[in-house]
Amino acid sequence: MKRTVTIILMGFGRVGRAFAHLLEEKRNLCAERYGLELELKAILELGGGTVFSRHQELSRLLKNASPRLQDDLSWNPGLTLEEILPKMEPGVLVDCTVSSLKTGEPGLGFLNKALECGWHVATAGKGGLVFDFKNLMKKARTKGLKIKFSGATAAALPTLDVGLYSLAGAEILGIEGILNGTTNYILTRMDQGLGYEAALSEARQKGIAEPDPSMDVEGWDTASKILLISNAVVGTEFTFRDIKVEGITNISPEVLRAAKEEGKAVKLLGTLLKQGNQFAAEVRICPLEPGHPLFGVSGTNKGITFFTDTMGSISVIGGKSDPRGAAAALLKDILNIYR
Ligand SMILES: NC(=O)c1ccc[n+]([C@@H]2O[C@H](COP(=O)([O-])OP(=O)(O)OC[C@H]3O[C@@H](n4cnc5c(N)ncnc54)[C@H](OP(=O)(O)O)[C@@H]3O)[C@@H](O)[C@H]2O)c1
Repeated sequence: MKRTVTIILMGFGRVGRAFAHLLEEKRNLCAERYGLELELKAILELGGGTVFSRHQELSRLLKNASPRLQDDLSWNPGLTLEEILPKMEPGVLVDCTVSSLKTGEPGLGFLNKALECGWHVATAGKGGLVFDFKNLMKKARTKGLKIKFSGATAAALPTLDVGLYSLAGAEILGIEGILNGTTNYILTRMDQGLGYEAALSEARQKGIAEPDPSMDVEGWDTASKILLISNAVVGTEFTFRDIKVEGITNISPEVLRAAKEEGKAVKLLGTLLKQGNQFAAEVRICPLEPGHPLFGVSGTNKGITFFTDTMGSISVIGGKSDPRGAAAALLKDILNIYR
């Protein structure tokens, strides 16, 4: 028997659109392989939203390769999440907005409202979780709901799933991750001889770096990801105050030159280390030896290594670093909620 899952999508930018298209593309596979009819019932943006009363209305919107929600016939200016949540059978709220790492908003408000109304959450946004991880998780647990955030923790690269499921029963002694594709691309190009500004400008031209890349190059994106992975996998209660963060903006040419001479590769790592009974997390520039599992992770690629007591070290490398990869991570999380 098939189960219908109602989905509300917040944000219709690059990831939101990719997610809506992916749901359409994978509709039959989800029904046949997982017995789930995933029904995207509403999409909301800053100024309003659209509720789809029939699936054909969504299909019609998505026929356009780069659809604008405001152009849709059913666009409802001023429509809010509060209005629609109680009117629908609870399913999954998918957050594809950009939230502030300082206030958690707007994601924090969306996640709280969804949980209060009995909805599971899958989020690509980090802000809400970074800001109030403990309380959100507690709220979800109390209500028997799930918050999934693969999309916020390196997206298509499985990080949480490996830590939470594949390493169950093992003690995690440490984690090292190249978790940000933009900084890894810049460092790779610098290793090939470009200066920092030239490498950044090339990353911008290729659409790899955001117009304002500060969250990436100052290390905060990596810090958010190692914070969330650590809190989820080993149960720390880290906030930004607990993490020492170094970016790549002031990286010295000498560090790069010395690393090259020694055959090492310079990477920006998010790290977690167990010291006694305590964990310490950090974001730092690190020259890696050729034998390190992440040595060859170059360009926009990402990778993570878990060091364990019983399973040795386990590394995962790769995963598509783009909106479609992030959308695929959201879809995976939704399917796994109902498994
Ligand atoms: N891009 C990637 O490859 C990638 C990968 C992994 C994770 N992520 C994460 O995914 C999220 C979305 O990224 P993106 O690249 O899709 O960003 P984006 O293209 O800027 O899209 C964000 C969308 O959210 C909307 N929005 C902003 N405030 C809103 C509000 N209060 N209510 C409803 N909608 C609101 C924006 O509308 P307006 O345009 O009207 O402001 C826009 O449509 C981010 O948190 C990002 O960190 C992105």
